[in-house]
Amino acid sequence: MKIKLKLPKISDTKEFREIFNDKEVGKQLSGYKYPLHFSEAKKKLQEIITQNKKGDYYEFAIIYNNKFVGLVCLGKPSKDKKIFTLGYAVGRKYWNKGIATKSVKKIVNFGFSKLKLNKIVADNDEDNLASAKVLEKNGFKFVKRVEKKRRKTDKKVRVLFWEKKNLKGGTST
Ligand SMILES: CC(C)(COP(=O)(O)OP(=O)(O)OC[C@H]1O[C@@H](n2cnc3c(N)ncnc32)[C@H](O)[C@@H]1OP(=O)(O)O)[C@@H](O)C(=O)NCCC(=O)NCCS
Repeated sequence: MKIKLKLPKISDTKEFREIFNDKEVGKQLSGYKYPLHFSEAKKKLQEIITQNKKGDYYEFAIIYNNKFVGLVCLGKPSKDKKIFTLGYAVGRKYWNKGIATKSVKKIVNFGFSKLKLNKIVADNDEDNLASAKVLEKNGFKFVKRVEKKRRKTDKKVRVLFWEKKNLKGGTST
């Protein structure tokens, strides 16, 4: 399977909207609402592009068979910038093909070898079994389970926290 990560461009808005204008994708993510109109999608993508340029934030388009099918990112750095939080999403019609698993593998390698991170952390709702599977398949270890209130729905959810340490050593602070 051919997966590439590239920086998103504003000309990707149509494909970006196709992925995120979907209740099933958006409900697992903060910062996305449904329906997502074209102008909102463009604004959101522009925010991502701007954040990427500022540094300390790395959000890549996932390219599968030359198509933009999702996003994977490292953000929310710790103060010393040695720990980043992982995020990912794939368009529904591309689910269960191993795309998220492979994309996470690529961004984890980038985080450990290029950014020299000490640790990458991630979290997912307990009922998001596909997301947990992606983390497990990438060697993330379960850390804790915390009950939280979802801001969007006011619903109580259990959130699982995960981490992967850089065993080859990041840099000490
Ligand atoms: C989570 C998500 C990124 C997974 O993407 P994907 O490309 O389908 O993931 P992969 O194909 O690499 O792996 C999914 C795994 O979960 C498994 N899976 C899928 N649905 C499942 C379910 N309901 N129960 C148990 N396992 C499930 C698949 O079988 C696969 O495992 P396998 O390779 O061992 O068969 C995708 O579902 C998504 O974008 N969801 C909405 C956004 C989201 O939840 N992002 C993560 C926020 S924490």
